[in-house]
Amino acid sequence: MTAPAAAREPAVGTAFAVQGVAMSFGATVVRDVSLRVTEGEAIGIVGPNGVGKSTLLDIITGEKQAKAGNVWLKDQEITELPARRRCALGLGRSHQIPRPFGGLTALENALVGAFRGSDLKGADATDAAVLALERVGLVDKANLNAEDLGLLDRKRLELARALATNPTVLLLDEIAGGLTDPKSASLVTLLKELHGSGVTILWVEHVLRAPCSWSIGSPRWPSARSSPTGRPAR
Ligand SMILES: Nc1ncnc2c1ncn2[C@@H]1O[C@H](COP(=O)(O)OP(=O)(O)OP(=O)(O)O)[C@@H](O)[C@H]1O
Ligand SMILES: [Mg+2]
Repeated sequence: MTAPAAAREPAVGTAFAVQGVAMSFGATVVRDVSLRVTEGEAIGIVGPNGVGKSTLLDIITGEKQAKAGNVWLKDQEITELPARRRCALGLGRSHQIPRPFGGLTALENALVGAFRGSDLKGADATDAAVLALERVGLVDKANLNAEDLGLLDRKRLELARALATNPTVLLLDEIAGGLTDPKSASLVTLLKELHGSGVTILWVEHVLRAPCSWSIGSPRWPSARSSPTGRPAR
């Protein structure tokens, strides 16, 4: 393991940044990755299975602790903060495999996001949950058991639960995975709307088709060593 590099505050206008992050599970899966995404950007990273995409998102959200490196949200270093605190500061995500809370309705799932993932309380949190369901087009299914939703609606619910936390940054983990082209297209339309409302987006996928249908941007890696694969991503 290398000695931790001195944290450098990222440039003005940064939505989030990682500097020299590394992670290993025996073998190294994320090696010296640095990435800066500016406020309002929508960035896609496409890479093959097992290259470390989900691990990178886990490091940013705090679900996994990097072995080295620093993570920033705007001008605040969040490397040592727990995931819940990072969420309350504006970092939202969707999981690769939708993870609705079993036995709860769609609305109750969004309420968990609002009450547990933000600093909102009472009626403000309830309003945020309902608004999140409206934004993703799920309000008509608010009282359905989340486990009974189809795949596209479970992906929408992942987004709604994240949106209920009032994020400034959304990290999307293979959100189009497993969807047919028409369903993927409707999801891309929704993501464009969210981006248009000012949310910064980092979207990882292992197939190019869905991100390319948006002509989404690609990251500017500071150096060739900085992509998860060790090569600049395309
Ligand atoms: N908790 C863990 N314990 C051990 N190995 C892990 C763990 N999490 C991930 N890995 C390994 O780390 C590597 C990167 O995994 P990761 O899930 O980040 O890849 P990915 O790029 O998201 O892949 P996919 O496209 O299949 O989702 C894989 O080889 C995986 O098996
Ligand atoms: Mg993954």
